[in-house]
Amino acid sequence: MEKVVSLCKRRGFIFPGSDIYGGLANSWDYGPYGVELKNNIKKAWWKQNVYMRNDMLGMDAAILMHSKTWEASGHVENFFDLKSDCKNCNKRFKVADLKDTKKCPECGGELTQPKQFNLMLRTNYGAVDDPASVIYLRPETAQGMFVNFQNILDSRHPKLPFGLAQIGKSFRNEITPGNFTFRTREFEQMEIEYFCRPEESDKVYEEWVQARQSWYLDLGMKPENIRFRKHAKDELAHYAKACTDVEYNFPWGWSELEGIANRTDFDLKQHSQFSGQDLRYFDAVKNERFFPYIIEPSGGVDRCLLAFLVDAYHEELVKDDTRVVLKLNKDLAPNKVAVLPLLKNRTEIVEIAKNLAQDLKKDMVAVYDDTANIGKLYRRQDEVGTLFCVTIDVQSLEDKQATVRSRDTMEQVRINIDNVKQYLVDKLK
Ligand code: GAP
Repeated sequence: MEKVVSLCKRRGFIFPGSDIYGGLANSWDYGPYGVELKNNIKKAWWKQNVYMRNDMLGMDAAILMHSKTWEASGHVENFFDLKSDCKNCNKRFKVADLKDTKKCPECGGELTQPKQFNLMLRTNYGAVDDPASVIYLRPETAQGMFVNFQNILDSRHPKLPFGLAQIGKSFRNEITPGNFTFRTREFEQMEIEYFCRPEESDKVYEEWVQARQSWYLDLGMKPENIRFRKHAKDELAHYAKACTDVEYNFPWGWSELEGIANRTDFDLKQHSQFSGQDLRYFDAVKNERFFPYIIEPSGGVDRCLLAFLVDAYHEELVKDDTRVVLKLNKDLAPNKVAVLPLLKNRTEIVEIAKNLAQDLKKDMVAVYDDTANIGKLYRRQDEVGTLFCVTIDVQSLEDKQATVRSRDTMEQVRINIDNVKQYLVDKLK
């Protein structure tokens, strides 16, 4: 884990948040490669779950929502963790994590009685700073889709079963954040709310578990590092009929990446009751009105990114030297190709390399780099998972060919410079 964290900072994937001020505990900023990897994960998720299907629509709801939303959802009443404080060192603990609920695990001091602690972050909405202006930062993106159910029906007229997909920031005032970006107070979710007839919900739920499994595996996650764990009855959230957690084998153990839940008709019923709007679905063929059930595959972007990073991290010995490679899937790798001049003081070589990189940029993420010797440049690109390196050398001036090196095999082939783009396009398909 330390190696991944160090690579993230060294190469510009993830930095500690507010670093120059000593950091804001457990907050993280995504750097140039981090944002590319994150965007690629979100793109792959959106493609699979929106563009490739005929029964899914996208959404982007506001982070700040009417306070009644959180009363209806149950978050005001139920979104609590029990916490205890140490009377000696003042550290705060989640009671669920404690072996001994009376003794501080760090200094041995006495712990306070457990108290309920609501995990929603609060702010004030508008210019007046009074209790009536208190509003929450959403702790999940899901509610933005439930409250728009009627708008979607009225504007797009989808028939059951259909779903909504949304990616966006959520906030939780976690008592014990940690494990790098795994548990933070600000994070991004990728959520699907799939509406179906109640009697079809068990089947639809199983189909989504399968679909989500394929997504992780198709993006190259090692099968031995991912598992699907069904919740026991006493583990289920108050609204859920069934739930399966997608878990990844992180260096500290198996931990949740995503939950796939059968939320029953809880959400639409609650919002109907609290808003006074009838959110039942009308089936014109059967002439019946009812509350659809909702199947919810809900994953975290940051956790997913961390899992793909850990999964892709690879070290091998090459000529007594350790080669670090991020073996990211081609759709996830931040850079697809780097064009490198073998000699940066030969203007003809530099010109060809720069022109080639510029031309490749039209079709893929391509970079030009001449800031070190070729050995170092290769290592640098391997460490960030760049799929191919194209080198222009003295020979290229005569035979108009370039050397294309593959990240995973380190195999090198000579290709006409004019054909390099097509070669790469074919490989990236
Ligand atoms: N709408 C259902 C829901 O929000 P959840 O299990 O509380 O369910 C879904 O959250 C996913 O969001 C988790 O599986 C995880 O990937 C991500 N997530 C939740 N809390 C997080 C946190 N504090 N930091 C990072 N990711 C988090």
